[in-house]
Amino acid sequence: MAGMTATTAMTAMTAMTVPLVRARKGATPLVMVTAYDAPTARIVDKGGADLILVGDSVAMVVLGYDDTLQLTVDDMAHHVAAVARARPRALIVGDLPWMSYHVSAADSVRNAATLIRAGAQAVKLEGGRKRVATVEALVDAEIPVMGHIGLTPQSLHVMGGFKVQGKSAEAARALIDDAKALAVAGCFAIVLEGVPDTVAALVTEAVSVPTIGIGAGRGCDGQVLVLHDLLGLEDRATPKFVRRYASLEAAGVEAVAAFASDVRAGRFPNDDESYHLSDDVAEVLGLYANVD
Ligand code: KIV
Repeated sequence: MAGMTATTAMTAMTAMTVPLVRARKGATPLVMVTAYDAPTARIVDKGGADLILVGDSVAMVVLGYDDTLQLTVDDMAHHVAAVARARPRALIVGDLPWMSYHVSAADSVRNAATLIRAGAQAVKLEGGRKRVATVEALVDAEIPVMGHIGLTPQSLHVMGGFKVQGKSAEAARALIDDAKALAVAGCFAIVLEGVPDTVAALVTEAVSVPTIGIGAGRGCDGQVLVLHDLLGLEDRATPKFVRRYASLEAAGVEAVAAFASDVRAGRFPNDDESYHLSDDVAEVLGLYANVD
């Protein structure tokens, strides 16, 4: 398989499951990428990602909100269903929106079930020890849960902005305790976002489930990026942990400008890009009346 590494080829052949994700603790690093619709899910899946995160980042990168707090369970179910229709081999994780798991265990289970019925195979929620009861209720309802600690965007106002977390010894210890509590409560993996690399490595060492980092250095069991950042779909300022693998905004703007110029100059569409009547019908319509 030219152009594919052995790991990518193997990953592409095997449907990913929650137990397979768990088994990657300390092994080949997990790859998670966001997707929010069928075509992006197909791109991420063909690229060999192990997990597709239908992240609530959809609120910011697709729906144009300034933060993730506006997103509803119905919004998320809509995007999860679109991703699921692509039938990816990667495991689909649906983000539980803000306020969908903060009120009661029953409410949380009902909302998570909506995402599972839409096609997610697991859900993700933000927060550490204070989420233990919620995680237990979801796991009890047979819903696999991914945790998310560190910079948790749904806590934007409490954090006073999108700020790196776990920078003091006390905060680092709190993160380790949060991760341990989530793992014991039944999370099958934990996202570590926006924390110093050494703290992420300590957290990773402290738990028996894989950690997946974003802005958390190399010491995690996997990495996640937002697809639109990775592709450079918008030429906007991104956090320093984003690595761009393409510049699709520039390519897209160039393509639309070329289309506009072809249309205005009468170069589009050409004959090959148009449908044509058969000669018989053209004759009936008298289109050849003046032709000898
Ligand atoms: O919503 C999202 O995309 C996320 C990742 C940044 C981990 O939660």
